[in-house]
Amino acid sequence: MTGFQVGGVAVNPPVLLAPMEDVSNMAFRRITKRIAAPGLMFTEFVSAMAVHYNPERSLRKMRIHPEERPLAIQIFGGEPETMAESARHAEAMGADILDINMGCWVPKVCRTGAGAALLKDPETAERIVRACVEAVSIPVTVKVRAGWDYSLFAAPDLVRRFQGAGAQMITLHARFARQGFEGEADWSLIRELRKAVTVPLIGNGDVKSPEDALRMRDETGCDGVMVGRAAISNPWALQRIVAGVQGRGIPAEPSLGERVETALEHARLMVLAESETEDMDEARSRPDFAQIELRSLRALRGQLPIYIKGFPGASEIRERLSRVSSLAELAEILDSLTARA
Ligand SMILES: Cc1cc2nc3c(=O)[nH]c(=O)nc-3n(C[C@H](O)[C@H](O)[C@H](O)COP(=O)(O)O)c2cc1C
Repeated sequence: MTGFQVGGVAVNPPVLLAPMEDVSNMAFRRITKRIAAPGLMFTEFVSAMAVHYNPERSLRKMRIHPEERPLAIQIFGGEPETMAESARHAEAMGADILDINMGCWVPKVCRTGAGAALLKDPETAERIVRACVEAVSIPVTVKVRAGWDYSLFAAPDLVRRFQGAGAQMITLHARFARQGFEGEADWSLIRELRKAVTVPLIGNGDVKSPEDALRMRDETGCDGVMVGRAAISNPWALQRIVAGVQGRGIPAEPSLGERVETALEHARLMVLAESETEDMDEARSRPDFAQIELRSLRALRGQLPIYIKGFPGASEIRERLSRVSSLAELAEILDSLTARA
């Protein structure tokens, strides 16, 4: 599979790391970029309302490290004006692409007319895309689901409108909003949508291996594949997908040592990002360092066990990982695992 252009941004390899709330932060993206080097990564979604009312806190989610480019900042909201305002912030923060979320189905988002609720309101959805396109000079892209309910495959009409409004790439998570994550993604929806899309079309949903990625391309004619859950605490899964898509040999599974080192580096990068420095000595000199460490590790607790899943002793340290509160403690817990191997 060859890469493609989104405006002036080259996406090569055509493998994209999905936006994932509470996962796709800067530390996760840096780890993923170093190991898998996907062609494009996304931030977790950022609320346009939150940016409007509390820019200082929300704009932290838009921070970009040079090593993670090209990067798309994803925003969500139900009003054209505040979305345009957030789009301008994203551009000012250095985003290469602005992505609009129209896939999130959770009630707290949809109640405000944002996320997947826009699949039921094509006029507002189109006005949001147009407002963002007019607000910034970087490419604007949209991530959609197939529609709200099975009864209506809304995406073809919507993406025609979005392309007319200037959207330069479309990603389809091949499920309906009502489904949440239930059932299998229906890739035939991507093939159907292909007929309506003239800009690059990205297929998304249940890609876990190089074989999945190539099969999705063959079955749907998509220009790229987006991977979410399979890449959580597992950049090597994405690395294999990238290699497969590029027609290279598939790298071997990482050793336990590599996994442990990566988990530690992930945690270290979380702490550095929270401390807003690249220098661990400087971070440690902060009076609130212990709280920063605790906050960072708490945010990672759900992801740490996945790094070592399946290795002998992994289930015994699970409980300790769910309470870990410092980098030193994390190193000690993980050492106890490698010592057994
Ligand atoms: C923990 C988690 C958080 C997510 N957050 C977002 C988000 O912020 N924005 C978005 O567009 N999609 C979000 N998604 C959906 C993913 O981007 C993706 O569409 C979905 O997981 C299907 O891809 P997969 O089967 O490869 O995981 C999230 C998914 C997960 C599992």
